[in-house]
Amino acid sequence: MKSKQLSVFSPATIANLSCGFDVLGLALDGIGDTMHLELTTEPGVVISSIQGADLPLDPDRNVAGIAATALLEALPDYGGGVRIAIEKRIAPGSGIGSSAASSAGAVWALNRLLDEPFGLPELVAFAMKGEALASGAAHADNVAPALYGGITLVRSYDPLDIARVHCPESLHACILHPQIELKTSDARKVLRTSIPLSKGIRQWGNVGGLITGLFTEDFGLISRSLEDCIIEPIRSLLIPGFGQMREAALAAGALGFGISGSGPSVFALTRGADAAAAVSTALGKAYDGFGIPYDLHAGPINRRGIYAVEDN
Ligand code: HSE
Repeated sequence: MKSKQLSVFSPATIANLSCGFDVLGLALDGIGDTMHLELTTEPGVVISSIQGADLPLDPDRNVAGIAATALLEALPDYGGGVRIAIEKRIAPGSGIGSSAASSAGAVWALNRLLDEPFGLPELVAFAMKGEALASGAAHADNVAPALYGGITLVRSYDPLDIARVHCPESLHACILHPQIELKTSDARKVLRTSIPLSKGIRQWGNVGGLITGLFTEDFGLISRSLEDCIIEPIRSLLIPGFGQMREAALAAGALGFGISGSGPSVFALTRGADAAAAVSTALGKAYDGFGIPYDLHAGPINRRGIYAVEDN
């Protein structure tokens, strides 16, 4: 009989990766939330505590609660419930998958406590229900890399079809999080719903180029493909200092620079840890004059996704 309690670490993620709006994402090593789950004999989901963020405990208004409820509803014979305590280390509204870490962490841990009745594709679908509450759209480009680890592609939403993408060993990511809140739901409202064919051609050329560059470890191709001609021109207007940070990151050797998810965090990808440290320093220096407090992160890519704390 497996333990009825489990603590898991659920990583932060970068969605979109510039050209792949709503379809590409990667998991970050070293930043994430810790969640403690316990099976209960009473049916239903209870969120017992949330440390580190002011979020609702009501399971119908909490992304972890919604995702866990979706999983339990798919197991009508189980009859019990779950209690969830969350230690948030990822600031809500930061653009590095705060809600996804909670949704994905809840379903991954619950699935393991219940002896793994579901596979990862099904867990993505449950976690997406939480994302729908957080952003008004059930996108999977944060929850998929959180659950699978590494880099993922949502090839299709209907039917849901997730593919793992090769992640070169030396790939590193830098994040600068300006401490302003930008809600994903608001950052989606500013987007146009149709695009000119010429932009579509450029964008899907970049998506193909990025995937090919990752699989062949062609860093020149990765660098040329980290471009977003559709979403970034609009959303970057919501991020003070975006242009200056881009210039600084690229001058310091970044392969590419863009908005992390819906922002306000920005990201850069680099080849190697030294380049990541140099780009991170350059990003900080570029942002110092803006009068907005910020956090910096630089590190490798998380390749295993969510994990049980005792497995670490
Ligand atoms: N793909 C989503 C968006 C990610 O850009 O709106 C949100 O984190």
